[in-house]
Amino acid sequence: MAGERFYLPTEIVTGAGCFGELGRLARRFGRRALVIGSRGRLGLLERAAGLLTEAGIEPAVWAEVQGEPTLSAVEEARARAREAEAEVIVGIGGGSALDAAKAAAGLAHQPGAVADYHRGRRLEPGRNLPFIAVPTTAGTGAEVTRNAVLIDPERGVKESIRDDSWFPALALVDPELTLSLPPAVTASTGADALCQAIESYVSIGAGPLTDPLAAEAIRRIGRSLARAVEQGSDLAARSDMLYGSLLAGMAMTNARLGAVHGLAHPLGARYGIPHGTVCGLLLPYVMAYNLPAAAERYARVSALLGIDVSSLSMEAAAEQGVARVRALFQQVGIPSHLAPYGVTEDAFDALAAEALAQSSLHFNPRPLQAEDVRAILASAL
Ligand SMILES: [Fe+2]
Repeated sequence: MAGERFYLPTEIVTGAGCFGELGRLARRFGRRALVIGSRGRLGLLERAAGLLTEAGIEPAVWAEVQGEPTLSAVEEARARAREAEAEVIVGIGGGSALDAAKAAAGLAHQPGAVADYHRGRRLEPGRNLPFIAVPTTAGTGAEVTRNAVLIDPERGVKESIRDDSWFPALALVDPELTLSLPPAVTASTGADALCQAIESYVSIGAGPLTDPLAAEAIRRIGRSLARAVEQGSDLAARSDMLYGSLLAGMAMTNARLGAVHGLAHPLGARYGIPHGTVCGLLLPYVMAYNLPAAAERYARVSALLGIDVSSLSMEAAAEQGVARVRALFQQVGIPSHLAPYGVTEDAFDALAAEALAQSSLHFNPRPLQAEDVRAILASAL
């Protein structure tokens, strides 16, 4: 496509404490709400229910999101939404909870089974419920994207349902909600956020509207990831991370991603590696593969990560960025090899075929054939 299409219809409210505005902001969407999240954040879900009640909205709570969402989890959440006659869905949590809630809202009144739409059935317009997204991790940026990643255990497939009508109506982005995240989750979700920022910055779908968003995301996440992991109560570091992942989400939903995300889905589906972990693990290897095709872009990434590139050639500057990402991920405890997860060479052919079918892969700055994907996997083994 010549030119750049930038589409983001979500109202975004940011600021420490903005979660307290949930009731007031939700009122325009209806009188009955379903709050979706996981049991681990039950206290927060109940606080949301209280805020909604105070605003005259009748809340129901479905706290059964467990790990990355499966088709049956969404089927259950959707049934709960119908039963509660919800007029708005509120998703609270990390990427898994937000994607489950987004899919429940997007499929709320579609006539088919959730699995049908995962297999490509067309969505009928006007059958969504409005969706409010409240992220509690600085990771996926799901509060500003049009897709939900869902797992079909039967087919062993992890793929998105994606539609322009699935953008949240409202995102409440409150860094206070991330203060209690444990260090390991801060690290893996933050690795996903940095990966999304860098992939959308070097994507062939990047353009003048997404570049400043991705660049600022790289700058904020690069300077604050280690601090947020090591000093979780630091609100400034948490704000950098959450706004960084928000900006990366705004960039990637328009610029799209790259080979890391193309590979992350099959690896995640087959070996159960958490999304952020697999993204962080793969990012330095994919950057190294991409360097010859996008040295100038990666040199700018290095500068955004705080490296003084003034006396370096473009290639040397780009290489230093890879080293910086590797060192940063090592510092926060992101694993650097796939073998400990049970990945073996005899799975490479199947993984390469599945990765090549992922849309993300086609936005990678250096094109990949099956042998290139196998080589990346071999380097990461
Ligand atoms: Fe991601």
